Amino acid sequence: MITVKINDREYQVEEGKTILEVAKEFGIDIPHYCYHPALSIAGNCRMCLVEVKGMPKPMTACSTRVSDGMEIYTDSEIVKEARKGVLEFILLDHPVDCPICDKSGECKLQDYYFKYSAQRSRYEFPKERHKVQKISKKIYLNPNRCVLCTRCVRFLSEITKTFELTTVERGSHTYITCVDPESLDNNPFASNISDICPVGALGLNEFRFKKRVWFTKKVKAICQGCSAGCNIYVDVSNRKQLLDGDDDEIVRIHTAENPKLGQYFICDEGRYSYKLYNDRESRVKVPVLEGEEITVENAVSLIKEKANVRKGVVILSPLHSIEENYAAYLFARERGFDVFRPSSFRKDLPEPALFIEEKKSPNDRMLKLMKLPKVSEIEEIDYDFALFLHNVGKIHSKSEVRILSVLKKSTFSVVFEPVLSEFGRNANLVLPAPIFIEENGCYINAKNLVQRSHKGVDYMYLSKPLWFFLDINFKSEEELLAVFAKEQLNIELDYNRLGTEGFEL
Ligand code: SF4
Ligand code: SF4
Ligand code: FES
Repeated sequence: MITVKINDREYQVEEGKTILEVAKEFGIDIPHYCYHPALSIAGNCRMCLVEVKGMPKPMTACSTRVSDGMEIYTDSEIVKEARKGVLEFILLDHPVDCPICDKSGECKLQDYYFKYSAQRSRYEFPKERHKVQKISKKIYLNPNRCVLCTRCVRFLSEITKTFELTTVERGSHTYITCVDPESLDNNPFASNISDICPVGALGLNEFRFKKRVWFTKKVKAICQGCSAGCNIYVDVSNRKQLLDGDDDEIVRIHTAENPKLGQYFICDEGRYSYKLYNDRESRVKVPVLEGEEITVENAVSLIKEKANVRKGVVILSPLHSIEENYAAYLFARERGFDVFRPSSFRKDLPEPALFIEEKKSPNDRMLKLMKLPKVSEIEEIDYDFALFLHNVGKIHSKSEVRILSVLKKSTFSVVFEPVLSEFGRNANLVLPAPIFIEENGCYINAKNLVQRSHKGVDYMYLSKPLWFFLDINFKSEEELLAVFAKEQLNIELDYNRLGTEGFEL
């Protein structure tokens, strides 16, 4: 460890880190465009200039490594002047079309201009203009708004290694262009460039002119697409500020980084999965008994009555949270019922696959850690009662066949699912399950990291958590998580211990 001073305060820091990394670690904000923790250092935007004692000129914080005794100033008059100058240069050719830009409200150029510059442009000459283009089915490029940080170019050359974007021309004529739109169409990670672009130059066609970001609510959640457990933000349309009423439509999913997981990007499959969750018409809206709608109270007492039998089975789900699964497990244990787990779906992984996991379910690991037998091991007996937890997503087709046969043969079967499926159609009672964004839920990813997904919207229609329908005496999801952790993992676990980056088992 070495000692450095930042703004006259001493810090013990690791040798070899850059000034920007060290400052970030201690919560000191240094503005930047081209720096990205997962990409190589470019040092081209000059936005991160800081003053280092003894150096004749301001230094770029992203590319200057700390040394013992270094004295750094991130907010001196020299630094303020340098930032103003950099912003003036960046804005020379910029169209300043914030009122029609989709990045408005989350744009680093807008933020830094207000924070560090706020001066009128002195530029009097015609600005350079380029056409706005749809460079792929998913992405548009507006080169006029580009700050030439090359994050997008580096992402496509260093991470996906597909090289679709490049810079052309030189000096003040330089601009970004797409050299292979077809490859971008087929790149399963391409849409990340809209997240890493710090300004409104790259965006998603689907989100273009759709929603101002200040009319959305950002919910931190866990992607349900596979067992990688990527952290995501789910943006929910929040029209309360505009109109009387709240439509709770999911308008976008984008990356929420998790350094503990080394995760800075998401795949396009996970990103565009929100469309599945917006299909409200297909939702199971109320409890349904043999095709007839019943009240929640009737469903609760019916389950109590029908589960008062000797031979029962509960089939848990790698597509549901720890809390939902453990509620079902406790219900089964109290009655001495058998408990099984389905295999999750295997798919052909796209090329490149990078971090996508083969298991197409967010919580496969939990059921494995519980050492539950697979549904393929269910004996050929007819149960008096069967409960199956199902969700939006896929399980292995062989498991599907086995579960359907168990449901059909049982005297009374219950399926807990958000969208009516073949399982629900073959059950006596269907219970309306919430989707992941309607409840707090934790998941264990393929790397044994327990992570929390946050509740962002109210339960839709009459959907409720499973512990409510099973009449298990728990006050919250957090309590269920603690019981699971104590009984199955022999550890104390609550939301505090999970923190924002999760808990490693
Ligand atoms: S398009 Fe965006 S990410 Fe790419 S160089 Fe320009 S500002 Fe940077
Ligand atoms: S890799 Fe898996 S968890 Fe990550 S975004 Fe894609 S589908 Fe979701
Ligand atoms: S962030 Fe340092 S030069 Fe761009």
